[in-house]
Amino acid sequence: MSLVPVITIDGPSASGKGTVAQRVAAALGFHYLDSGALYRLTALAAERRGVVWRDELAVAKLAGELDAVFDGAAVLLDGNNVTEAIRSEGIGIGASVVAALPAVRSALLARQHAFAEAPGLVADGRDMGSVVFPDARLKVFLTASAQARAERRHKQLLAAGEPADLAAIAADLESRDARDRARKVAPLQQWADALLLDTTDMGVDEAVEQVLSWWKNALSA
Ligand code: DC
Repeated sequence: MSLVPVITIDGPSASGKGTVAQRVAAALGFHYLDSGALYRLTALAAERRGVVWRDELAVAKLAGELDAVFDGAAVLLDGNNVTEAIRSEGIGIGASVVAALPAVRSALLARQHAFAEAPGLVADGRDMGSVVFPDARLKVFLTASAQARAERRHKQLLAAGEPADLAAIAADLESRDARDRARKVAPLQQWADALLLDTTDMGVDEAVEQVLSWWKNALSA
């Protein structure tokens, strides 16, 4: 068990948990783990080496040997900047495929634990509070309605100058959520010991304030 204070923020795609988790980490001076990026990096590494995403053993081997560096906001794979490449919709789909493979999840565990360093960690993902950091001091399940999440993703893509179709985005989010929820290992779900933060009608500032206030309470409990 780690003595480093950990806050876990789990939730579905495009719920805004990444933004909230990064802002909470910055406010507390904590480290930040974007665990989804590890699954995205694994999918990208497989694609670049011609390994099919469903080949569990081969993908798990790649996951265990990932040469990945998180340098501020930049992500490097084998020394190359892949910050944007891992955010594509195609790699998002690949990430959800490789994330359903138990051997891949095990191969990434130690790497995730290594992020728990003083003075503390905010970890964002799907199974941070349930599997990776079950002893976390504060666990949050951050979500928003499917409609709100599709609209947020749509806005993000348009702002990035990418073509975006709201109906297609909603359908893609739905199938990805379904795969994340239905898988046998570490499915996406709100665990009993996580506090629910529904941001459907809430801005980022308010969501960050809520997590910080829960953290204050957790420390004084
Ligand atoms: O949060 P994200 O969209 O970057 O995650 C990419 C995929 O990885 C998503 O389909 C869910 C999966 N994932 C996971 O299974 N467990 C995590 N802790 C984080 C992400």
